[in-house]
Amino acid sequence: MKNVTIKTQPYDDQRPGTSGLRKKVKVFQTPHYLENFVQAIFDTQSDLKGGTLVLGGDGRYYNRDAIQIILRIAAANGVSRVLVGCGGLLSTPAASCIIRKYKTDGGIILSASHNPGGPDEDFGIKFNTPNGGPAPEAVTEAIYRRTKEIAEYRILETPPIDLDTLGETRLGETRVEIIDSVKDYADLMMELFDFNRIRMLFESGVFTMRFDAMHAVTGPYATEILEVRLGAAPGTVINGTPSTDFGGGHPDPNLVHAHQLVEFTQGANAVNFAAASDGDGDRNMILGRNFFVTPSDSLAVMVANAHLIKGYSAGINGVARSMPTSQAADRVAEKLGLPCFETPTGWKFFGNLLDDRKITLCGEESFGTGSDHIREKDGLWAVLFWLNMLAVKQQSVEKIVTDHWKAFGRNYYTRYDYEAIDKADAEALMDSLREKLAQLPGQTLDGYSVEYADDFAYTDPVDGSRSERQGIRVGFAGGSRIVFRLSGTGTEGATLRVYLEAYESDPSKQMQATEAAMTDLVDIALKLAEIEQRTGRTKPSVIT
Ligand code: G1P
Ligand code: ZN
Repeated sequence: MKNVTIKTQPYDDQRPGTSGLRKKVKVFQTPHYLENFVQAIFDTQSDLKGGTLVLGGDGRYYNRDAIQIILRIAAANGVSRVLVGCGGLLSTPAASCIIRKYKTDGGIILSASHNPGGPDEDFGIKFNTPNGGPAPEAVTEAIYRRTKEIAEYRILETPPIDLDTLGETRLGETRVEIIDSVKDYADLMMELFDFNRIRMLFESGVFTMRFDAMHAVTGPYATEILEVRLGAAPGTVINGTPSTDFGGGHPDPNLVHAHQLVEFTQGANAVNFAAASDGDGDRNMILGRNFFVTPSDSLAVMVANAHLIKGYSAGINGVARSMPTSQAADRVAEKLGLPCFETPTGWKFFGNLLDDRKITLCGEESFGTGSDHIREKDGLWAVLFWLNMLAVKQQSVEKIVTDHWKAFGRNYYTRYDYEAIDKADAEALMDSLREKLAQLPGQTLDGYSVEYADDFAYTDPVDGSRSERQGIRVGFAGGSRIVFRLSGTGTEGATLRVYLEAYESDPSKQMQATEAAMTDLVDIALKLAEIEQRTGRTKPSVIT
C-alpha cells in the first residue's frame, strides 16, 4: 500500500452544471477523468485534509468503481475519516443529513439523479459543503478552474475494500467507516413527523398506498420507513431493490416514467395515495386517487398546512421557490404574511436562505420539495409530509388540493421539454427572445396583455452574489406566465424548457383539464419563441 503521484492532463469540460458534473459513464471511464475532478475537489477544499468526508451514491452503474477510486484518492490526500454508505448507497437527502449530523467537512455524492443508468448512460459527481448542501457557485467554479490546470493527482495503491459489511477499515492513514445508509435519515424523519398518527392511518384498514422506488436508491429507505417503522402493508413499496440500470427504466418520478404507479391510482381498487422518487431520492411525485398533484401545488399546500405538522407546528420563517415554479406558493405566503423568495433554478440557491433562517420550506416545479431539515430536496420527506397531512386532515388528496384552489386560486401548470436539440439553435432561440424583451411590455398577445418581460437575474440576499441570464420570464396581467430556459443538466445537445402557468381565481373554472386551460398560452409561447422554425420540432419530447 503506497501513495503514488500520477501525471495527468486537464480536461476542458469539467464545469459542474445545475447539479454537479454529469456526463456519460464512458466519459467518466476515460483515463484520469474522474481522478482529475476528485483531485480538484481536494485541492480546493482544504478542510478535507485531516477532516471527515461523507461518500455514497445512488447505486447506478459505475457507483462502486467510483467509490473505490475516490476512497484511494481521499486516503492519499490526507482525509482522516470517510463515512461511506453500506454498499456504496446513500440517497442525496441521506447524504445531506449525515454531513450535517456528524458535523463533517462535506460529502461527495455520486448520482445523475433522474437520468438513466447503465454502461451507456449517465453518471455524475457533486460536492456538498459542510452545511449539507450542494456547493455554491463560488466553490464549483473554483473546482472547475482547478480542473483546467491540473497536472497530477495523488492516489493510494491498494486493492478494493469491502463496501458491504458495516464497520471500520483502514486505507493507509484514513479510517473508512461503512455505515448504515438508512438509519440516520429514518431517525430524522421520526423527529419531523407524527409517526404514531401515520401508523394509525395505515392500521385503520381503509387507507392504502404505493410508493414507487423506481429500482433506485429510495427502495431501502422507503421499506424501512413505510413498511417497518410505520407498519404499511408489505408490498406498499414497489420496485424497491436498487439496480445499476434502474431496471432499464428512467428513474424520473413523473406521469410518463412512473406509469406503473399511476395505474395503482386508477380503477375500482385504486389506492388512496401514491408517490414516487427518483434515482437519488431527492425528487417526489404525489398522487391521490385519480389525481395528480403538481409539484408547484404540492409546495403551496405544504406551506398552507405546515402548522399541522409536528416538526413545523411552531411556525415557518418563509418560503422560496425556483423562478419557473408556479406562483401558487406566493399566494399562500402573501395571505399568511410570510416572506417569499424567487430564486434561480437549482437547489443550491436555497442554501443561503435556509442557513440564514429566512425560509423553512422551498420547492421547484421539477418534482422537488424540501425544508430546513437538510440542505437538499427530499423525496421521502415530501411523501411523509403528505402522509402526516392526510392523517391529520382525514381527507382525500383531491379534496385537500381542490379546497386549496378555492381558497387561493388555481395555478394551472405544465412544462414542455424539447430535448437534444442543436446547441447553436437553442442559443439562437434564446438570444432572439432576449432581443424582443424590451418591446413586449404593454403588447397584447392573443388577448393576453404583457405586464413584464425580462431575463431573470438574482441577487442573493445573504451574500450579495449575482446570477444572471437565468431564464426569460413573460408575465401577463391576471397572473399567468410563460418562462423559457435552457437546461443545465442535460448531457446531449441542449434542452429547451418552456414553463406555462395559467392563473384562475374563479372556483367555477378550476376543474378544467390542464391542457384545455393552457391552449392559448401554448400558442403564444410557440409563436413568441419561433420554436418550430428554429428547432424543427413540431412537438415537445416530454410534457409534464
Ligand atoms: C433540472 C430541474 C431543476 C433541478 C435540477 C436538478 O435542472 O429543472 O429544477 O434543480 O434538474 O435536479 P435543469 O435541467 O432544468 O437545469
Ligand atoms: Zn435527483
